[in-house]
Amino acid sequence: MAMRSHYCGLVTEALMGETVTLCGWVNRRRDHGGVIFIDVRDREGYVQVVCDPDRAANFAIAEDLRNEFCVQIKGLVRARPEGTVNDALKSGKIEVLCHELKVLNPSVTPPFLLDDDNLSETTRLTHRVLDLRRPAMQRNMMLRYKVTMETRKFLDANGFIDIETPMLGKSTPEGARDYLVPSRVHDGSFFALPQSPQLFKQLLMVAGYDRYYQIVKCFRDEDLRADRQPEFTQIDIETSFLAEEEIREMFEGMVRTMFRNAAGIDLPVFPTMTYGDAMFKYGSDKPDLRVKLEFTELTELMKRVEFKVFSNAATMKDGRVVALRVPGGGAEGGMSRGEIDAYQEFVKIYGAKGLAYIKVNDAAAGRDGLQSPIVKNLDDATLAEIIARTGARNGDILFFGADKEKVVNDAIGALRVKIGHSAFGKKAGLFDDRWAPLWVVDFPMFEFDEEGQRWSAVHHPFTAPKDGHEDLMDTAPEKCIAKAYDMVLNGIEMGGGSVRIHREEVQSKVFRALKISAEDAQLKFGFLLDALQYGAPPHGGIAIGLDRLVMLMTGAESIRDVIAFPKTQRAQDLLTQAPSPVDEKQLRELHIKLRNSQPAV
Ligand code: AMO
Ligand code: AMP
Repeated sequence: MAMRSHYCGLVTEALMGETVTLCGWVNRRRDHGGVIFIDVRDREGYVQVVCDPDRAANFAIAEDLRNEFCVQIKGLVRARPEGTVNDALKSGKIEVLCHELKVLNPSVTPPFLLDDDNLSETTRLTHRVLDLRRPAMQRNMMLRYKVTMETRKFLDANGFIDIETPMLGKSTPEGARDYLVPSRVHDGSFFALPQSPQLFKQLLMVAGYDRYYQIVKCFRDEDLRADRQPEFTQIDIETSFLAEEEIREMFEGMVRTMFRNAAGIDLPVFPTMTYGDAMFKYGSDKPDLRVKLEFTELTELMKRVEFKVFSNAATMKDGRVVALRVPGGGAEGGMSRGEIDAYQEFVKIYGAKGLAYIKVNDAAAGRDGLQSPIVKNLDDATLAEIIARTGARNGDILFFGADKEKVVNDAIGALRVKIGHSAFGKKAGLFDDRWAPLWVVDFPMFEFDEEGQRWSAVHHPFTAPKDGHEDLMDTAPEKCIAKAYDMVLNGIEMGGGSVRIHREEVQSKVFRALKISAEDAQLKFGFLLDALQYGAPPHGGIAIGLDRLVMLMTGAESIRDVIAFPKTQRAQDLLTQAPSPVDEKQLRELHIKLRNSQPAV
């Protein structure tokens, strides 16, 4: 006899009157004076099993059942009595009258109830096996699987082939710290785990494979956040002979197909916004377009004002002054004093020194209609101009950022999102609850690294400049625009890519602009430069963060909820207790001597 005939969660009224054999875990046992109900759970959901005292042997077993016992039940599918139908469950119209009950394996008492929604992350990650048994996690994992299946189907249908690239390699400069693996055979040498397969996929294009993809682990030793893991998964893609717009069109199509087929979500067409516009209006290269707030540019206006906080920022190199108008924020029942104070603190996280504001009580009444610690520092004409440019109305509040452009963009950009997502923002209609995808395009090629006092690549150094921008690399790197694009959804960078450089002389120019010497370039990327000389085809691609995409689809707060065995914010695996010390013999074989005082075990 088969161990199981059906999944618990899939037993429906279609099986009425039939005998089924089910296997699963006891979610809960309820004694109802004389009858015992057991909710049995498996991957597909719950089913209600009824044990009556007529079958004494079964009944005795049922009395001893505890949560998470693994059980097998043979029984008759029958209708639930009137009034006990549960429409929330697929199996909610039926129950299974138990004929045979077998404990396949008892369980010790679990450290928490699986349907407790208030578990700490530490508890969940330490007992990840039980956490993964919870229906919400099972749904997330199932959806993740569907997404990868849809990805493979789409890419296969479009002629892409899956080719594996090495995990043990040489570091590629994607900007994060590498995870290193010491070589036993080569004393003092190290492999790096890939931050992405970037260079290998380009080499595959040179090798003529034409369309490549891989669902692949990438490793980056960076500071972790809710949407970052040290090891994460990319849907990594590269294609030859497609132009920038064709690449974007194809992969927008892929993502929309995935959302529709895996989650039944119809994403709107992705609008395209330049990096310049995104920074100008939202201070971010991944704007959350659900938030209906925009910056008002005031840098020129503030150049000549008396208020030093503003005029200094407006006149300094790379300075910026903006206002953020929040409709209704200054009205009765708008933002509270406490909220405004909290925002003053919030912007400091991003390096802002303060957060000036004006409450607009009566826009027509000149300075008397404005309530603010800073109006005394501004003349009438400037105040009138601020009202006119922001379009402020009675009851609005205006926040101001004045500093280096980067600080203003980061601080007021984050404030914009914070206010939009706040209870006030939602009540005031400043947040549009919809799917808000977009492409951000026309990134600059280079950014100036103040610390290192040199130019660095915004995307990566293999990204091609816009046609006609090649010579700017030597003369005005700050004006050079790249054929790079990011795919953004609801304020999260879901993917990014670019058209690559396929000619060796252009690649050398980029290295020159980045002050990477010819010898250094040869040492680090000689294999790429060499390959480019053998008729490398025009090519480009994209990588989509699978974890982030599934997080967005499920509405999870953290990518840890869509990864079976994730690391904590402190880059640890609480389940297996990795990383962990290793014994002296292993270290010796790897030619490694520890610097710190912690002894190896
Ligand atoms: P990029 O560095 O933009 O591009 O990465 C592509 C996408 O990967 C996801 N991602 C992450 N997800 C979780 N945790 C992380 N630490 C993390 N880092 C990145 C993001 C991001 O958009 N080789 C290029 C792609 C290309 O040019 O084709 C690359 O890796 O969703
Ligand atoms: P102060 O002159 O330092 O007392 O600042 C007057 C007001 O300007 C206060 O409300 C500060 O929060 C605000 N403020 C100070 N520095 C900045 C800045 N860089 N950007 C925006 N507002 C600021």
